[in-house]
Amino acid sequence: MSAPRPAVLVTGASGGIGADLARIFARHGHDLVLVARSAEKLKALADEIESTGRSRPLVVPCDLTAVGAVDALAARLEAEGVVVEILVNNAGYGLLGDVADLDPVAQMGIIDLNIRALVALCLRFLPELRARRGKILNVASVVAFFPGPGMAIYYASKAFTLSFGQALGQELRGFGVGVTTLCPGVTLTGFQARAGFTSDIAIMRFGAATSASVAASGYAGLIAGRRTVIPGFSNKLLCRIVPLLPRAILLPMIASMQKRKTGKT
Ligand SMILES: NC(=O)c1ccc[n+]([C@@H]2O[C@H](COP(=O)([O-])OP(=O)(O)OC[C@H]3O[C@@H](n4cnc5c(N)ncnc54)[C@H](OP(=O)(O)O)[C@@H]3O)[C@@H](O)[C@H]2O)c1
Repeated sequence: MSAPRPAVLVTGASGGIGADLARIFARHGHDLVLVARSAEKLKALADEIESTGRSRPLVVPCDLTAVGAVDALAARLEAEGVVVEILVNNAGYGLLGDVADLDPVAQMGIIDLNIRALVALCLRFLPELRARRGKILNVASVVAFFPGPGMAIYYASKAFTLSFGQALGQELRGFGVGVTTLCPGVTLTGFQARAGFTSDIAIMRFGAATSASVAASGYAGLIAGRRTVIPGFSNKLLCRIVPLLPRAILLPMIASMQKRKTGKT
């Protein structure tokens, strides 16, 4: 029997930040497992990476919110002789709108993907990550630092990601497993369309980062063993100052900012 092949598992690798993270890991010589629902986009990325002379990533199309998806993914990796040395929990989405107005099933899907699948992947791959003194990169957001009326479940899901990642990282310190939480600000990807943003607000035109630059910050922070990575000076400032505002000011301010993204104000 041949030795297991260590690889970096990237969820949400079919576009945006996840695809750019995959490209960076490939450039640094890592073998990859690419996961998302869009099989064609994953195959195109695998072709692109292979064409640069790197080994072809293993493509595993799957809906991580489906019952049994994480077990099926783990079984596939076992069958392929792949062990996870770095787990990148990047897949996620949000929805713009008030809780009472949005489709309940779609809202529960945010919890299923951003929280449930992320935790299930950590739990499932923890034994091999510990055995190999591996790493976990969880993608949260700057919105993890404050509540978000108008995108309430999304903001809360990212607060969970940040809190869980920091606590897990502390627990795993003695085992040599690093846990880094990446907290990007506005980044132009497929995220805005899926969330239902219909209005082009100024921050998106002038303050947005590229997925490539966010991925580069995440990779560098992970390799440096950093607990939390907030790309960009203005985002770092935002995460320090906004949580200090009295809730009576902060909550209506965020609610009105979300309304502007709908184009209704
Ligand atoms: N863009 C921003 O402004 C921003 C800011 C802060 C944090 N983030 C976070 O960054 C992460 C990456 O998002 P992005 O901005 O790169 O958005 P994106 O372009 O929409 O990418 C999301 C990725 O998640 C995958 N995905 C969605 N639902 C899935 C499911 N049920 N099962 C498996 N994969 C699924 C998508 O692929 P398929 O559709 O093919 O499944 C896609 O690859 C997310 O966690 C997001 O919350 C984004």
